[in-house]
Amino acid sequence: MDLSNLKHLRFFGLRLTSLLSKTFFLIAIAFIFRTLLLPKSFEFGGIKLHEQGLSGMKSGNLRMKFLEVPQIVWGLNNQKIAFARACLTARLLNRTLLMPSLSASLFYKEIDQLEPISFDKVFQFEKFNSLCKGFVQLGRYSDLHNQSDIIVVQKGSGRRWTVKRDLDQLKELNKNTVDEPETVRIVGKNPFLWHDHWPVKDYAKVFKCLVLVDEISKESDKVVAKIRELGSGSNTVSSNDRVPYIAVHMRIEKDWMIHCKKREQRSNVSDICSSKDEITTRVSKIPGLKTPMVVYVAVADALLEDGSILDGWSQGLQPVEKKKLGVVEIYKKHPYLIQSAIDYEVCLRADVFVGNSYSTFSSLLVLERTVRSGGCGTSDHVRSYAYNLKGEHGGPRPWMTSLSDSSLEAISYGSNNISC
Ligand SMILES: *[C@@H]1O[C@H](CO)[C@@H](O)[C@H](O)[C@H]1NC(C)=O
Ligand SMILES: *[C@@H]1O[C@H](CO)[C@@H](O)[C@H](O)[C@H]1NC(C)=O
Ligand SMILES: *[C@@H]1O[C@H](CO)[C@@H](O)[C@H](O)[C@H]1NC(C)=O
Repeated sequence: MDLSNLKHLRFFGLRLTSLLSKTFFLIAIAFIFRTLLLPKSFEFGGIKLHEQGLSGMKSGNLRMKFLEVPQIVWGLNNQKIAFARACLTARLLNRTLLMPSLSASLFYKEIDQLEPISFDKVFQFEKFNSLCKGFVQLGRYSDLHNQSDIIVVQKGSGRRWTVKRDLDQLKELNKNTVDEPETVRIVGKNPFLWHDHWPVKDYAKVFKCLVLVDEISKESDKVVAKIRELGSGSNTVSSNDRVPYIAVHMRIEKDWMIHCKKREQRSNVSDICSSKDEITTRVSKIPGLKTPMVVYVAVADALLEDGSILDGWSQGLQPVEKKKLGVVEIYKKHPYLIQSAIDYEVCLRADVFVGNSYSTFSSLLVLERTVRSGGCGTSDHVRSYAYNLKGEHGGPRPWMTSLSDSSLEAISYGSNNISC
């Protein structure tokens, strides 16, 4: 199925001007046209051409092969990790990932309420492919030639399904290149629960290609503009554009407290949960903080009801949340996933970000902020901190992602090792 020989024929034909070679060239062209028009595959000079001819080939490569994965579910960042894992699996299999469905709502068990939302309603499809070119690619279902040319692969599960067995299965899938099906469909668990075989830098490469669609990024622009407007106070002379702000991803809601207490017990550590007092105290002790400064407090909606989240901050810090900013309406228009994506963007653009090192949301933010700042030790103008870990002088500990880690686990599901 290699076309390079045919290309040589054409090249040869173009270079020689004798009648004989021209005739030869025309015959070669005729053969190419036959390939395009004939429904059946046929042998040509030992090269077996596929029945669909050239249409399914991209710039002389082999015909595109695809990977299909189950709907991607749970929180925004679990979905991002799951998506990246699906991409990296496709890369391992030398396949294009069929654009998966994300989930608009946050449900863990009620499968029927997951509200599938197409990837390209959240992230830019073309942009993804152009930024990730040569690394991973997304395809559309309309790219498929034969929907029945498919094999269904069940991922194993349970304790006996080890990382090694999982990788062996993928490698096995890769081996049989002769009668490769057009599509490999993986069924079963969602990709977030698949085994991890990739280093942090591979995930970072995929995340870098995820650019929000304009509709959503404009919403975050509005929120950021409100924050800066507040920060600039009555000083209408200065431009709002560069008014700095801090974002604090504050996890103190009941569900989280139950979850983090359990985790502390299980891992016999005491620095996962932080109370509101601990957070506000540590934030006030960030070295070199210029006040007055607006603090955008990213919290679960349940905490917006009681306004106490804005109490207890030290002087010079001006805490705000969606309600105080008057942007609740902007969020309300959208389902959970988009709301979360807006908040993520607002935290990403903050001059200083403070989060919890055991939260996936915080961890992916710091990963992305680290990449944007040029990696470890190269820059300190995009500063991040973990409030659950004590740093110098009673402040939060500075936080940067080590991009050389060999698996995402080290940086995303909780760690107090946060420097690089
Ligand atoms: C993927 O395909 C390219 C050419 O299309 C080939 O060179 C490479 O060996 C393949 N990789 C794997 C892992 O099969
Ligand atoms: C589609 O693929 C199936 C399975 O490989 C095959 O049996 C069938 O002939 C194909 N159909 C066409 C139109 O190529
Ligand atoms: C938990 O950690 C403390 C010190 O951090 C240690 O003294 C204690 O033995 C540990 N408990 C268990 C059950 O490992």
